[in-house]
Amino acid sequence: MNLDRYIDLIKSGEVVAFPTETVYGLGTDAWNPDAIAKVFKIKGRPSDNPLIVHISDEAQIEDFALDIPDHAHRLIKAFWPGPLTLVLHKKPEVLDAVTAGLNTVALRMPEHPLALSLIKETGALVAPSANKSGSPSPTKAAHVFADFGDDFPVIDGEATRIGLESTVVDLTESFPAILRPGSISRKQIEEVLDTFVEESFFHHIEKPRSPGQKYSHYKPKAEVRWLSDDETMHNSKALYLVQSSSVESKNIIVYHNDLTLMARELYDRFREADIEGFTSVVIERFERKSPIAEALMNRISKAISN
Ligand code: TXA
Ligand code: MG
Repeated sequence: MNLDRYIDLIKSGEVVAFPTETVYGLGTDAWNPDAIAKVFKIKGRPSDNPLIVHISDEAQIEDFALDIPDHAHRLIKAFWPGPLTLVLHKKPEVLDAVTAGLNTVALRMPEHPLALSLIKETGALVAPSANKSGSPSPTKAAHVFADFGDDFPVIDGEATRIGLESTVVDLTESFPAILRPGSISRKQIEEVLDTFVEESFFHHIEKPRSPGQKYSHYKPKAEVRWLSDDETMHNSKALYLVQSSSVESKNIIVYHNDLTLMARELYDRFREADIEGFTSVVIERFERKSPIAEALMNRISKAISN
């Protein structure tokens, strides 16, 4: 795919949506304050919620971060490029608009080839998920068009592979802490670091370490709730997402414990539920066996409680 038009747009201070392996991002130059202001404005994002800086080369972390610990190098070696964001101490020159005034900066190297090709040409990009604040993250170009209009510049890279946002790990405190669960699990991170990793992503905590934790996310207009034990699946206005069933239909989707597939589809199902006029999305509980189970639980719980 020819990216020239999108590269030019970013170089002239515009915003372009692009695919990553997790969700689509709304990318703009990480060193251009006016361009970053546009991102906050079009997303309707609260200004105290910082952005992730996306890079294409490991050496670029030196442009943004200070005192990079050994833990960071180990995680980078194991998981970059890929769906892992590291929170590190920031260099003084990193723009306040990026970090929302925090003394830390979040960095990630996505693995999607279109994302990497783009960033190689433009330099580091800040990229929040390419949805309006409050709606589910986009996993297809069509979702970005739905939120920002048909003329919005979107690099179409098909449906994203993972479907949930990256794992965010804070390496600036005494213990590494997961601020947002993703497809790279706590167990995988503990194995690489050979140390205890905290989980700090409960959205009811008063002073969250990650500002994004206090905002509502991932929520369709339809009510999301868990399936009760004795519930029958007879409501034609409900979309059922279950692990096993003797019937499959337009509103009964069966995953057979394939949580990877369920994660990939979740936000699209949320959006489709609204388009199709379902009034609820009813989800059967699942065993937390696969690495992505925690992230899936986290996103569903947020959609239920907000
Ligand atoms: O998979 C992803 O990470 C996607 C794709 C596009 O890369 N991006 C994404 O960005 O999910 P966004 O802006 O929707 O979520 C970023 C999260 C927010 O919860 C934010 O609060 C947190 O990262 N964050 C950013 N900088 C931080 C920092 N310095 N300290 C703590 N949390 C930070
Ligand atoms: Mg987001």
